[in-house]
Amino acid sequence: MRKIKHSFVITEYDGIEELESEDSMLLAKAVEAAGNAYAPYSAFRVGAAVLLENGEIITGNNQENAAYPSGLCAERVALFYASSVYPDVPVKAIAITAKAENFTIEEPVAPCGACRQVMAETENRFNNKLRIIMMGETGVVQVVEGMESLLPSAFHSDELKKEKKHK
Ligand code: THU
Repeated sequence: MRKIKHSFVITEYDGIEELESEDSMLLAKAVEAAGNAYAPYSAFRVGAAVLLENGEIITGNNQENAAYPSGLCAERVALFYASSVYPDVPVKAIAITAKAENFTIEEPVAPCGACRQVMAETENRFNNKLRIIMMGETGVVQVVEGMESLLPSAFHSDELKKEKKHK
């Protein structure tokens, strides 16, 4: 028997003004995108901005639906749109933020599990680590390098390619 410990590093900044310009610009795009979310049911507007290797920035926001599960998170809207327009361009970074109608979000917004899985696929597909920048409406900004930090032991496409040991 052995125990395996996963640990990861979060770099925390006191605010958006403390970030490098590339990160703060991406986060500003995510804030803008959150404003256009379609979130009449949760009143929780999420914005995501994706930076591609070619310098393009693609944004997305949550799109809700009266049939709740038909909606989609901001991160996946942005990543899927980026992939549909630039299928061969690696993704460098994603900035995520949110604002709520009924309260102030004081902590960084972390992506949900399904979005983490899609982010891990993006990283794996391009063999390129993602930089993840997370912020609430106020408070600190957190930056994490690589999806192994946010989704350790993720399910990858390699799992689908294994061969049978004994036929
Ligand atoms: N949401 C996102 O857009 N991203 C996440 O990572 C978490 C949740 C959205 C889904 C739903 O429209 C609203 O936030 C409340 O859960």
